[in-house]
Amino acid sequence: MFRCGVLLQLALYSVAEELGTETCAPGTRRHPSFPPFDLSHGETAAWFKKNLPALPPPPTMTAEEKMYARWSAAEYISARRAGKVTCEEYAAALTKRARHYKSMNQFMNWDNDPDWPERVLAAARKMDAKAKAEGITSIAPLYGLPIPMKGTMATKDFISSAGVGILHDFRAKDDAEFIKIVIDKNGLVFGKTNVPEFAASLVSCNYADGCTLNPHDRTLTSGGSSGGAGSAVGAYLSPVAVTEDTGGSTRAPAFSNGNFGYDPTRGHFPNAGNPGMALILDQLGLNARSIEDILAIDSAVSDYDPSTVKAKEVGKLRIGVPRYPFVESYIPAGGDNPFGIEAPMAYMPSKPIMAKYEAAKEALRKAGATLVAKEWPSEEGQNVLARAFFQMKMGKEVVSPHFHVFSTYMGQVAQWMYDYLGVNATIADVFADAQSAGAGHSPRGFMALSSVASEAKLNFILQELRAAGADAWNRLFDEENLDVILIPGYLHTPTYECMASSTCEHQVKNLTSGEVVSRAEFTSVQSLFMHTFSMKHIPLPKMMVPVGLDPQGRPVGLQLLGRAGPPGSRGLGYSYDTELLKVVDLPFLKTAQAAVAAMVAADPSLARVEPSLVRGKDNLFE
Ligand SMILES: *[C@@H]1O[C@H](CO)[C@@H](O)[C@H](O)[C@H]1NC(C)=O
Ligand SMILES: *[C@@H]1O[C@H](CO)[C@@H](O)[C@H](O)[C@H]1NC(C)=O
Repeated sequence: MFRCGVLLQLALYSVAEELGTETCAPGTRRHPSFPPFDLSHGETAAWFKKNLPALPPPPTMTAEEKMYARWSAAEYISARRAGKVTCEEYAAALTKRARHYKSMNQFMNWDNDPDWPERVLAAARKMDAKAKAEGITSIAPLYGLPIPMKGTMATKDFISSAGVGILHDFRAKDDAEFIKIVIDKNGLVFGKTNVPEFAASLVSCNYADGCTLNPHDRTLTSGGSSGGAGSAVGAYLSPVAVTEDTGGSTRAPAFSNGNFGYDPTRGHFPNAGNPGMALILDQLGLNARSIEDILAIDSAVSDYDPSTVKAKEVGKLRIGVPRYPFVESYIPAGGDNPFGIEAPMAYMPSKPIMAKYEAAKEALRKAGATLVAKEWPSEEGQNVLARAFFQMKMGKEVVSPHFHVFSTYMGQVAQWMYDYLGVNATIADVFADAQSAGAGHSPRGFMALSSVASEAKLNFILQELRAAGADAWNRLFDEENLDVILIPGYLHTPTYECMASSTCEHQVKNLTSGEVVSRAEFTSVQSLFMHTFSMKHIPLPKMMVPVGLDPQGRPVGLQLLGRAGPPGSRGLGYSYDTELLKVVDLPFLKTAQAAVAAMVAADPSLARVEPSLVRGKDNLFE
């Protein structure tokens, strides 16, 4: 129907970054928080600087409503079970906040379905009626907890546009599998949270629903692609929200909004009904304000009793802190480099993030944990993880799990539009409709990856790289008897302004001279590169942990990463065992919970900090 000329000119590495200024299709109904379509990246940055609104003042709420809003999910569940609150009272407090903060765009479709919160309240009333008629246990285990769903997921009762302007009015014919489970467990679907178009960036903007603001600081992005979910949790619109992570989309919003972000072992939650990006990377997950709430929701939907696994004593924990590839991220000589990452330079997190990382290591040491500062072992002079990631050969060519994993992206999008929406739209229509909000948000560029990725290389990644990657990954765990690995969360803290102009700051180390300098050169590819995108091809559990604010008041997170598969497992068999997948992450979650508690006890400056949005007079936290 409509084709842009851009595909022909793609230099591989520039794909995700450089297409923001070409305009091939006029979008309509531009949300006022989304920049005009015809600006350069620099002009977009200037536009954000001038046009980002102030964060709204607090809503007027009763003492009860404030108490409900502050509750954790676990506190709500126990209060509802004890009859101290009704589902409707609780849902009314949360939906009141969602409406009040609608200019922050945590949720979608305020223009074309403004009364969607009424349907949440109606479902809450039904839940109360069921509890009254059939007894309180009839609404176990979620007791009518309202849970926001990522805007990409298919839902019958709420619009399912995946953030795409031309799909802005469509509802799905069926619910996504995970939503069916939540409903079956007596949870409520609490609307749809904002996303970039088909999750195609780390910035939660789309021209139809606007850009999501961050409750800590109006100049910051809320991360993405689950940025609406991250901001909703940070702003106390709900204690937990469902996210999805392909290359960081659960963890980047957790980092930016100061939440915990749980990206499970792939296959832990069913992904059907959430449009796929890459066959082996996509995984639904959760954002929450505590690991206790993640365990509460996870055990409810996955049917297990979290008390069956006891956390190890902190004094017995062995925590890996390897420098490569997370503190110093680089591609070894001769390695696959589809995004043109500069060599022999290593990307490092910004100074404030490194300072938090060092403080966390010190606190864990003080708490009695053993920090293991060992690298992955070397073979033939090369770190085995680097070899398995960048230097494996398909025939004579090196292939990494970057890039070619996206060869099915647009096909999966087309299938989802057909299966769930039954809509008459083509990939070309979606592609043409996508609009850039600056260098860090060029969904059209991301979507174009499918057209230039190689199916043969995807096949190689599926068959060879994953298994080799899992074995290499587990060597550090098994040889050093590690419980978990601690790494910095991300490279830097993105503002809308630096995101749009590619000028966020991180550190770069010259591996020849050893010199480390700060550079204002951020692109999302650099940020994704090792911190959130890497190791996604290996099914393993990951947790973004909020560790307070940097000196400028911006949230910082660190990540805990677990072993691939249960102790002693070999190969990827565990990742096809649906019963095992439900509980395979439980020891990791318990370890994360114990390690975080001990870390914060040893150094309270590493505790999660409440966003400025919810602090101050007449607010949730005075
Ligand atoms: C789908 O859309 C195209 C282009 O707008 C139109 O020509 C075609 O008739 C439509 N097909 C159906 C089945 O609606
Ligand atoms: C890295 O350091 C080496 C040795 O000092 C120097 O020759 C080289 O130009 C540096 N590279 C960059 C990109 O700064």
